[in-house]
Amino acid sequence: VQSLIIDCDPGVDDAVALFLAFAAPDLELLAVTTVGGNVPAHLTQRNARIIRQIAGREDVPVHRGAERPLKRPPAGAGEFHGAEGLGDLEPFEPAGIIGDGPSANAIVDLVMNRPQGSVAVAVIGPMTNLALAMRRERRLAEWLGPVVVMGGARAEGGNITASAEFNIWADPEAAAVVFGSGCQVIVLGLDATHQVRADEGRIAAIEAVDSEAARTAAALLRFSQRVEREVVGGEASPLHDPCTIAWLMRPDLFQTRPCRIEVETNSDLTRGHTAVEFRVDPATARHHWAVAADGQGVFDLIVETLRNAA
Ligand code: BDR
Ligand code: CA
Repeated sequence: VQSLIIDCDPGVDDAVALFLAFAAPDLELLAVTTVGGNVPAHLTQRNARIIRQIAGREDVPVHRGAERPLKRPPAGAGEFHGAEGLGDLEPFEPAGIIGDGPSANAIVDLVMNRPQGSVAVAVIGPMTNLALAMRRERRLAEWLGPVVVMGGARAEGGNITASAEFNIWADPEAAAVVFGSGCQVIVLGLDATHQVRADEGRIAAIEAVDSEAARTAAALLRFSQRVEREVVGGEASPLHDPCTIAWLMRPDLFQTRPCRIEVETNSDLTRGHTAVEFRVDPATARHHWAVAADGQGVFDLIVETLRNAA
């Protein structure tokens, strides 16, 4: 069983990642830490509590997090996630409380009070919280288990600019702190997540699972698919954030390569670009970049995990 913190900005695909993790038998979810990103921080923490309530996992604390990136004004991706972040799901004030202390403190406390290397962190929003945590506790980077990131773009270019993917673009300075910290980072960028697409058949398979979590996940994916058609002009929407949870459960669904990643912070034009250098010594490389993903395998894993938890 892998102990895990999910740092997120729900966000439609963040919500699906949470449903998957809440249902995964081999993941011990220590906390969900939230951050401003797709929508402002007061909404991402509320949305995480809504998803927690639907999943029936009030045992997992949800913390509020950074309201703005380290140096940039807050971003926002409401056109992809709906004005309040959960597509066309009717928002409500969840019953469960907010965890004590901000996300960055929760990350430090949970990681430093457990054996070295035992806690993984999945970062599926801007990396502000983890960067703040690393500033607060200098030993954090060497104490962390694998950091599994949804972020970055290489082969096809970005999804927010020609050069950059949203999570890295939103807080490039934070991403630079994390990639420069020496911790082990597995990166599921657009090269991989664009191979994991929700078409009607895959959404229907999730919807057929008899649980509120599965039906809600399917409704969120339908929203994304509509956005993909109307805003992007594509057919099936990419399923970004759940790839991190899928990697923790079934790393064999992804092909990764050892590398060194640096993040552009100086240029306006290429802000948040991930420069992925494969000419490294594989024995000492701290970063791994996903070059391919088994899309059907990821969807089968989601269906099977939600079904077993139903
Ligand atoms: C990432 O940006 C956000 O809008 C999604 O939730 C995902 O984390 C994809 O670029
Ligand atoms: Ca996200």
